[in-house]
Amino acid sequence: MENSFTAPASLLVELNSIVERLDLAQLFPKPRPLEVELGCGDASFLAEYARRNPGRNFIGVERLLGRIQKLDRKGRRTGLANLRGVRIESAYFLEYLLPPHAASVLHIYFPDPWPKKKHRRHRLINENFPALARAALAPGGVVYLRTDDTDYFQQMTEVFAASKEFQKIETPAALAEVLTDFERDFNAQGIPTLRAAYQSSR
Ligand SMILES: C[S@@+](CC[C@H](N)C(=O)[O-])C[C@H]1O[C@@H](n2cnc3c(N)ncnc32)[C@H](O)[C@@H]1O
Repeated sequence: MENSFTAPASLLVELNSIVERLDLAQLFPKPRPLEVELGCGDASFLAEYARRNPGRNFIGVERLLGRIQKLDRKGRRTGLANLRGVRIESAYFLEYLLPPHAASVLHIYFPDPWPKKKHRRHRLINENFPALARAALAPGGVVYLRTDDTDYFQQMTEVFAASKEFQKIETPAALAEVLTDFERDFNAQGIPTLRAAYQSSR
C-alpha cells in the first residue's frame, strides 16, 4: 500500500512523547535500510552521506539545538527526503526511542573523549555500549567508529573485542572518504583518524 507521506516543514523530529518509540513509517517516504549517526554535530558527514545514498534512510542524533538545526538547513537546501534529525541524548535514543533492531548501521564519529580520568564514565562507548548497539541493530548490522583520541580508541576496541556478538570488519572506502567537520580539522593539524568497524553476528 502507498505510504501517505507528507514532506515535513522541518527535518527535525518533533517528539510528542519521550517514552514512545518512533514510528519510522511516518518519518520517511519509503521504508529503506536505516542508518543512525549518534552525536552528528552539524551533520557535515550525514547530510553529504545521505545525499550520496538515496536508497537508505538516515537519522542524526544530537543534543545541541544549534548544531542539529544545521542538519535541518543542510538537508532541506539539498532536498533530502531520506534525512531526519532528533535532538536528544544518544544512549537514551538507542534504548528508548529507536524501535528494537531497526538500524542497519550506527555511525559514531569523534564522540566527546572526556579526557580526564574522573570524567571517563561519561563516554558513550563504554562496556555497556555493545549490548545497547546490538539491541538497536538488525542482524548483521554494523557500528562504524572514528576518533582522534588514542585512549578512547583503545577503550572502543577493548569493549568490542570483549563482546562475543561483534566481529571486527573493515570500513569501506566509500564511507571513509566522507569526512566529518571535526575530522577535517584534526587531519589539517596532522592528527590522523583512528577508525574501527564491528558487525553484529546475529
Ligand atoms: C566532537 S563533536 C563531533 C561531531 C561530528 N560527529 C563530527 O565528527 O563532526 C561531538 C558531538 O556529539 C554531541 N554529543 C556529545 N555527547 C552526546 C550525547 N550523549 N548525546 C547526543 N549528542 C552528544 C556534541 O554536542 C557534539 O556535537
